Amino acid sequence: MQKITLIPGDGIGPAIVDAAVRVIEAAGVKVEWDKQLAGMAAVDACNNPLPDATLASIRANRLCLKGPLTTPVGGGYRSVNVTLRQEFKLYANVRPAISFEGTDTAFSNVNLVTVRENTEGLYAGIEHFITEDGYKIAAESVAVVTRKGCERIVEYAFDYAKRTGRKKVTLVHKANILKCTSGLFLEIGREIAPRYPDIEFNDVIVDACAMKLVMNPGAFDVMVTTNLFGDIISDLASGLIGGLGLTAGANIGADAAIFEAVHGSAPDIAHMGIANPIAMIMAGVMMLEHMGELDAARKIEQAVRDVVREGTHVTPDLKPGSAVGTQAMADELVRRVSA
Ligand code: NAI
Ligand code: MG
Repeated sequence: MQKITLIPGDGIGPAIVDAAVRVIEAAGVKVEWDKQLAGMAAVDACNNPLPDATLASIRANRLCLKGPLTTPVGGGYRSVNVTLRQEFKLYANVRPAISFEGTDTAFSNVNLVTVRENTEGLYAGIEHFITEDGYKIAAESVAVVTRKGCERIVEYAFDYAKRTGRKKVTLVHKANILKCTSGLFLEIGREIAPRYPDIEFNDVIVDACAMKLVMNPGAFDVMVTTNLFGDIISDLASGLIGGLGLTAGANIGADAAIFEAVHGSAPDIAHMGIANPIAMIMAGVMMLEHMGELDAARKIEQAVRDVVREGTHVTPDLKPGSAVGTQAMADELVRRVSA
C-alpha cells in the first residue's frame, strides 16, 4: 500500500485535509496516511515548526499532502514552506488554472498551467542591507540562475506538456533588461525546444505576458518561468479562474513531491466550518495523477466540477449566503465519487 505523509496544517488546514482524505479514499485509492506535524501545530507540540520526524517521513515516503501552514511571526522561524522546497530540492512548482463552470469570472476558457522554477532566481536568499552609521542606505538581492536549474525546469515543462497532451510551451522572461539571468534562461529554453518537435514553443516578455493573460488567457497553454515571475504570474492565473479557494499546486523535486492548496490557513474563518475544501481536494487530484491513479483523479475532478457548476452544495465563498459548510460539501463529493 502506498504510504503518504499527511500534514493537516493550521487554521482551516485540518478540516480541508480531512475532506481531501475522505474523498480520495471514497475513490477507492488504498493509502496508508503517515500523519505528521508542521507549522504552528508543531510549534505548539514540540516548539519546532518543522520536526525531524516530519522531514524523515517525507524523505521515506517521497509523497506528501500538506495543509496550509501559518508562518509564525517573530521568534526567528524560517518559512517552513521555503525550508521544505530547499530540503527536498522541489525545483518545479506546477499550478494548473482551468476554468470552472458556474463561477463568476470574466473568462470561461482558461486552461493553462504555470511551471515555476522554485529554488533559484531572486528567491535564492542572497540579500543584504548596506548600512552607514547603522542607517540603511541600500539593499541588494542577488538572482541566481544556473544552467542546470534552467535545463531541468524547461525540460520539466516540455515533458509535462507531452505527458498531458498539451500543445505549446511559452517561456516567460525579461531578457531585454536582465540580459544575464533572464537571458540565460531564454537561451537554454531555445536550446531545449527543438528536442520536442511536437510541442510549439514561443517566448514572451513578462510584462506583456501579464497584459495578454488578462486580455486573452485562452492563448496560453503551458508557461515556464523563473521564480519571482512565476510567483506573480501563477497567482494572476489563479485569479482568472476564481481565486484561492479553487487552485492547487504541486512542488516536485528529484527526492520528493509535496501537494498543497494555493491558499493559506485563513485564520479569519478557522473553526467556523465554512472553508472551501476544493483547492485541497484538487491538490489530492494532482497527487493521484503523479501516482498514476488516473481513474480516481478523473472521477474526483469530475465530481468537483459538477458540484461547482450545480452550485447547490458549495461553501459561501462560492455562493454568498450558502449554509453549506466544509463537511457537507465533502459529504456530497464523497457520495458522488463512491457512487
Ligand atoms: P489566506 O490564503 O489564508 O487567506 C486569504 C483570504 O482568503 C482570507 O479572507 C481567507 O478567509 C480566504 N480563504 C483562503 N482559503 C479559503 C478557503 N479554502 N475557503 C474560503 N476562503 C478562503 O492568506 P493569508 O490570510 O494572507 O495568510 C494566512 C496564513 O497562511 C499566514 O500565516 C500565511 O503565511 C499562511 N500561508 C501559508 C501558505 C501555505 O502553507 N502554502 C500559503 C499562503 C499563506
Ligand atoms: Mg506566491
